[in-house]
Amino acid sequence: MTHRRCVGVMGLGHVGLPTALGFAELGWTVVGTDSDESKVAAVTSGAPPFFEPGLEELLRRHLASGRFRALPDVGETVRQAEILFICVGTPHCEDGSADLSQIEGAARVVAENLNAYKLIVEKSTAPVMTARWMERAVRRYDDGRHEFEVACNPEFLREGTAVQDFLHPDRVVIGAGSDKARSWLCELYAPLGRPMLITDLNTAEMIKHASNAFLALKISFINMVSDLCEAAGANVKDVATGLGLDPRIGSHFLQAGLGYGGFCLPKDLKAFIHLAEELGVNFALLREVERINQSRIERLVGKVQQALWVLKDKRLAVWGLAFKPQTDDIRDAPSLNVVRRLRQAGASLRLYDPAAAAEFRRVFPEEPGRLVYCASAIDAAQGADAVLVLTEWPEFREMNWRQVRECVALPIVVDGRNCLDAASLAAEGFEVYRMGEASPAPKEVKV
Ligand code: UDX
Repeated sequence: MTHRRCVGVMGLGHVGLPTALGFAELGWTVVGTDSDESKVAAVTSGAPPFFEPGLEELLRRHLASGRFRALPDVGETVRQAEILFICVGTPHCEDGSADLSQIEGAARVVAENLNAYKLIVEKSTAPVMTARWMERAVRRYDDGRHEFEVACNPEFLREGTAVQDFLHPDRVVIGAGSDKARSWLCELYAPLGRPMLITDLNTAEMIKHASNAFLALKISFINMVSDLCEAAGANVKDVATGLGLDPRIGSHFLQAGLGYGGFCLPKDLKAFIHLAEELGVNFALLREVERINQSRIERLVGKVQQALWVLKDKRLAVWGLAFKPQTDDIRDAPSLNVVRRLRQAGASLRLYDPAAAAEFRRVFPEEPGRLVYCASAIDAAQGADAVLVLTEWPEFREMNWRQVRECVALPIVVDGRNCLDAASLAAEGFEVYRMGEASPAPKEVKV
């Protein structure tokens, strides 16, 4: 009978918690920990510390099955686990490089608690060579008393579909230097029955960074095509469909709009550019990808100005604050810069998001009359001079536009994600501004 190895997960955030519970779902015994005790307490009580579809159900199931436990003691987690996944944060420093202090901290704790052979697996996205640095750090603080190895198994989890992504991955990438490490990791993932790519450490790290950089590149590419469509009178959605039908290009990540945000794409791109510079490689292409993405904010604000001319004292409904639907995450969300810009212009804002309002409120507290949070999209639209859509939540697509028409002051919609149904809006007489489309002709004013 195969020995059931205990899996440890350090860091119970957007990567760590779905990973821990995913392994429990595959039948492994998992212990998880986090340096933030409140997170451990929340997880222990059955409440994930952030919103992620399907996660709470999985958490409750595996607290009950006994296959998952959250431990407040990081050292104890290391001692219990034979395979340890490092899922701590890798934010970026001022200069764009990855801040690896949490990874280094985790390596030290592992070293101080080694009690037998451990396979330490880097799962957080980190620059090439990080696994090598981890190896050195553990060796330094452990004084060579115990055997261990470092492997790299990058995550490809998207927020909003992290559970599904774990259980049905397109590929599992395993970077490891020994047969033992490779076979342990292959065994862990075997129940998934998905393709596995086995590489060396540096290659596995590079695959992750290059993947995210390529996704960002695709988005910026379609956004420039969208500007061109706007100038030339072509339809960017149809252009994207036409491009995507070529399997060499693929249809995903060709949705033009307000650009990419979130905790991964922007920071991973920055870190990749920084790494290229450090290694003496001129990857100017990626700087352009960043610049294009930043320019989306002014592009959207420009559309609001085309619709309303002066923004000072205009009442705007802002629908959608999360960096994408199905998450309450606002880290690096385009909405942050849009709201900042509209406030500078003196507009008064009525904000609504189905999940992310509480997070947003921490950055922009309520200011009566100038910036208020609303309980529903309809509430936000009350008396609005324009409705702005910044995140493509499904409920916005399904709005009753007759009802919206009855409560707004002016029938103007700026669709920053090109997600609304043109026909339903037109039927109610809305003037709609889209990304990649020339502005509608101004309505004749009856005198
Ligand atoms: C990303 C990667 O997709 C995932 O593989 C990795 O593990 C973590 O980083 P995530 O940050 O959850 O996942 O977001 P993702 O779904 O990639 O979207 C990123 C941003 O791009 C969002 O703001 C989204 O709105 C935007 N986007 C996406 C577009 O603007 N257009 C598109 O066509 C697709």
